[in-house]
Amino acid sequence: MQSRILYNENGHQWIVIGRDPEKDSHVIDTNEYVIVSRGQAMLLDPGGIQIFPQVLAELAKYVRVQDIRVIFASHQDPDISSSLAMWLDLNPSIKTYCSWLWTGFISHFSTGAAIALNPIPDKGMHIKIGDDGAEVEAVPAHYCHSSGNFSLYDPTAGILFSGDIGSALVPSHESSLIVTNFDQHVDYMRGFHLRWMPSTLALRSWTQRVRAIKPRMICPQHGSVFEGDMVGKLLDWLDGLDVGQWADESPTSGLCKAA
Ligand SMILES: [Fe+2]
Ligand SMILES: [Fe+2]
Repeated sequence: MQSRILYNENGHQWIVIGRDPEKDSHVIDTNEYVIVSRGQAMLLDPGGIQIFPQVLAELAKYVRVQDIRVIFASHQDPDISSSLAMWLDLNPSIKTYCSWLWTGFISHFSTGAAIALNPIPDKGMHIKIGDDGAEVEAVPAHYCHSSGNFSLYDPTAGILFSGDIGSALVPSHESSLIVTNFDQHVDYMRGFHLRWMPSTLALRSWTQRVRAIKPRMICPQHGSVFEGDMVGKLLDWLDGLDVGQWADESPTSGLCKAA
């Protein structure tokens, strides 16, 4: 498992964990993000059960598990939060947030005691990282791709976690966690978005919202991170996309096993 510090100023850090070269080929590659704010941590889309030991080992290089205050789940998929019960076993005081639409569904990932989830209303909300940490904002991203779906914006760092939006299925020989060649990266994103994003209208609404926020970095749950002028290129590319496409003969129909 790789990890990299994306932002580190005044006691506020963003770390990405992902692109495991030893990952089982049967599970999709995911990125897990950690925000550390004044010693208190928030974990974004903590990942699947299979990769829990590797994510935990990598996270422990930066922060103690007992300092995790919040877990955020962008939506309900198993690659995002099937590990949730394991994190809560290690630290039962963690507060977990997800869309109100999915609280009853994500609770099925419990292995014993019931999982108490904090519902995020459709319009979004502010979330504080523990008593002393910074405040971040759940930004609506409904139908991009899940019906109850959120991105997460951190105004302190100027970083937006976008969940599955901007995600890519990157070949295993590509080791960089940062996008350097946008045109080539489109080849890794296109099939994923055509199939997994059901609504062009919802995607346009999300890019408008994000343009108003003006993040300096966009971090997806799969693939590579967009920074600098790559952020604008991603938003322009998404604005030219007609999604929700499928047909028997579609070249994209078999491209994406999971999101
Ligand atoms: Fe998903
Ligand atoms: Fe995903």
